[in-house]
This record gives sequence, C-alpha cells and structure tokens, in this order.
Amino acid sequence: MKILIIGSTGTIGGKIYESLKKEYPEVYGAHRTSTSYPIDITDNSSIENLFKKLPKLDAVINAAGTATWKPLSELTEKDYYVGIQSKLMGQVNLVNVAKKHLNNQGSITLTTGILAEHYEPKAVALSLVNGAIHSFVNAASNELERGIRLNVVAPGAIAGDFPKNQKFAGYYPIDIQEAIKVYKEALTSNITGQIFKKY
Ligand SMILES: NC(=O)c1ccc[n+]([C@@H]2O[C@H](COP(=O)([O-])OP(=O)(O)OC[C@H]3O[C@@H](n4cnc5c(N)ncnc54)[C@H](OP(=O)(O)O)[C@@H]3O)[C@@H](O)[C@H]2O)c1
Repeated sequence: MKILIIGSTGTIGGKIYESLKKEYPEVYGAHRTSTSYPIDITDNSSIENLFKKLPKLDAVINAAGTATWKPLSELTEKDYYVGIQSKLMGQVNLVNVAKKHLNNQGSITLTTGILAEHYEPKAVALSLVNGAIHSFVNAASNELERGIRLNVVAPGAIAGDFPKNQKFAGYYPIDIQEAIKVYKEALTSNITGQIFKKY
C-alpha cells in the first residue's frame, strides 16, 4: 500500500507517519515546509503538484489544517475565514484532488476533532469547521467513484498538547496511540462515510 500523510511533522500526523512507516514500505510524509514533499492544502495547485509527484497512491491521511482560537465576542468575519480556508476548504480541496488521482478502492481520511459536538471556550470557529467537515464527509462519501472511501477521524484533545488531567470540551485528553488506532481502522477497513470519534 502506498500512503501519503499530510501534516507529517505535527502532533497527530507525526505519530501516524512514524507508526505506518513501520508497517508499510511506501509511506510519504508531506507538509508546507517539507523539502521532499511540500504541500499547502489551502492551495489547490500545490495539492495537484504533489499528487502528480506521487502517482498511484492507495491512501491519503490528512492531519493538517487550522482555525482561529478566540471567544465568540472577539471573532470577526476574517477570523472565521482562516478556518474555512485552511481546515475546511483545505480538506475539501484535498478530497477533490485525491478522488481523481487515488487508485481504485483508495482511501481518504480527514481530521476534525471533539469540538464538532462539544463546547470549549474560545473554540467556536473550530467547532464551525469541524461540523461542516462531518456533514461534507457524510454526503460526499456517497458520490465517490471507483470504490474510493472517505472517512474522518474526530479525536479528543491529545495528551501532551493539552494537560492530561484537565478536561477539554468535557473530556479528558486521550493518548496519541488511541487516536492512531482509529486512523489505522479508517485506513484498513472497508468502511466509508464514517465519523470515527475518539474521546
Ligand atoms: N493536537 C490536538 O490535541 C488535536 C486534537 C483534535 C484534533 N486536532 C486537529 O488535528 C489537526 C492536526 O493537529 P496537530 O495538533 O497535529 O497540528 P500541529 O502539531 O500544529 O501540526 C500540523 C502539521 O500540519 C502541517 N501543516 C499546517 N498547515 C498546513 C497546510 N496548510 N498545508 C499542509 N500542511 C500543513 C504542519 O507542518 P508545516 O508547518 O511545515 O506545514 C504540521 O506538519 C488539526 O486540524 C487539529 O485541529 C488536534
């Protein structure tokens, strides 16, 4: 299996990359500042370029994308567009490109988070995009052709990034390895249109 991990130096993507690299011979890690496989998911042509550089991929996992952390009272329209352009449209763009280039029966796995359905102060803009991605995956997975699957992993806060013994959005942070198991399930199962919640 030939797999691309986007966000491969991050808290989540870095560990996915490390873990899959041990199990599969062809795993490629990409992110904006990579010298080997640069990609910016907010830029369609950058996504196209990487898929052309890495033809015949079987799977892509995205763990990149951001949004603005601010209380509702301070969020401006411009602030919302940060998340819409990055975490939301970045992942939608990725699906649009990946569905053309992936091998038959290929797998696309996106990342959202607990904030899609649980409240945390200063995280309204993240909740907005996470929820939109869930709706997108739910609908778009029905229209993918050639057996291509589309799923999303919604992890809780990752322990280490957030204090382990302090609740985030009502739940204690999870160990990164728990999240990795879920990405692997999305990768290797035959499930599509699923929101894999881990919190
Ligand atoms: N950490 C958590 O506790 C947690 C919990 C639940 C959900 N999430 C979600 O999971 C995703 C990843 O979080 P993380 O904490 O692992 O992030 P992170 O540690 O900040 O890492 C982000 C990774 O993505 C790359 N990246 C950033 N923007 C990019 C872009 N526009 N195009 C391509 N690559 C880009 C970064 O490298 P470059 O800077 O070189 O591009 C880096 O490799 C985010 O959407 C986050 O909301 C995180």
